[in-house]
Amino acid sequence: MTLPPLDRIPPQVVSLADYEPLARERMSPGAWAYLEGGAGDEWTLRENVAALARRPLRPRVLRDMAGATTATTLFGLPLAAPILLAPVAFQKLAHLDGERATALAAAALDTIMVVSTQASVPIEEIAAQGPASLWFQLYIQPDRDFTAALIARAERAGYRALVVTVDAPVNGARNREQRAGFALPPGVEAVNLRGMRPLAPSPPDRLLFGTPLLEHAPTWADLGWLRGLTRLPILLKGIVDPDDARRALDAGMNGIIVSNHGGRALDGLPATIDLLAPVVEAVGRAAPVLMDGGIRRGIDVLRALALGADAVLVGRPYVHALAAAGALGVAHMLRILRGELELAMALAGCPTIAAVDASVLAPKS
Ligand code: FNR
Ligand code: LAC
Repeated sequence: MTLPPLDRIPPQVVSLADYEPLARERMSPGAWAYLEGGAGDEWTLRENVAALARRPLRPRVLRDMAGATTATTLFGLPLAAPILLAPVAFQKLAHLDGERATALAAAALDTIMVVSTQASVPIEEIAAQGPASLWFQLYIQPDRDFTAALIARAERAGYRALVVTVDAPVNGARNREQRAGFALPPGVEAVNLRGMRPLAPSPPDRLLFGTPLLEHAPTWADLGWLRGLTRLPILLKGIVDPDDARRALDAGMNGIIVSNHGGRALDGLPATIDLLAPVVEAVGRAAPVLMDGGIRRGIDVLRALALGADAVLVGRPYVHALAAAGALGVAHMLRILRGELELAMALAGCPTIAAVDASVLAPKS
């Protein structure tokens, strides 16, 4: 038996990590394995967190903090803090209200929620929750006409940017999930992909190569097509190589998200914090660069900003808060993280987001 969501937040919940046990008690073992797991041996999953901890801080003291603020903007959208909610599929696995609850919290806390292609609630219903700034995460589908129609739906519903995920043309080797025997329970599905033309079945003698899924996987050639479909800003999520970042901008993309998919795609990638600086250098001031993976504390946000990120996204921690206490939990979790960022900036001597630079980092340990 799993426990029902909390209707108030216990005073002992003071950090993002405190939500984790509360979520675990409220999710099935299979759903928990799906949420928490990474690919293969989960080295990258662990490394995302460990590498942040290897970046010690070096504060400056006695700086004037009058008028300090975490506020920033992305593509002209004002944000209370440079902390966004990463696209996470199937949020009904965590809470009955699923993505609706997350959108409500994002709106209340003046931040952006990136809604997954594999959301478990229709994208129009998520948008109806309030004036949250929503971005739509797109997996380019084998059925390109369906993909174009999905983008048009997102635009009509008021989504403000497209986040095209490019690091997972196929799922990683999710061994933890497989061992747990995870399957989507009844009532949880990718509702926004209903009606899509199904792929031809894979030949039985093939593993992955030569299957329809991989044959129809997107390539650089699709970006021109995509650019012609919409005037929304387009960010590519899952870029880790400086040359790929430059190529994305050449293809008319407007932003980069340095990500290793939270360690869920290709195990063996370095932590995102260790991949960030060369991408930032390649992009220069031409476009915003965001980062996700392993952000658990305000000091982690500070570290990413110090290495040149314009903002970060969090994944698993907000789903923990969602499972524990629905919209209230997500809103509370966002407040904790923003509060920690304020505290980190105050103690490091950084009055604004723009003032955070590499000087707040000590030499790498
Ligand atoms: C994800 N992520 C993801 N990314 C994406 O582009 N589309 C998606 O549908 C999903 N779905 C998804 C489900 C689950 C359960 C997880 C944990 C993650 C990846 C996500 O956007 C983000 O890159 C990572 O979660 C960031 O790492 P942390 O914050 O979870 O460490
Ligand atoms: C995942 C896919 C949905 O990470 O992106 O589970």
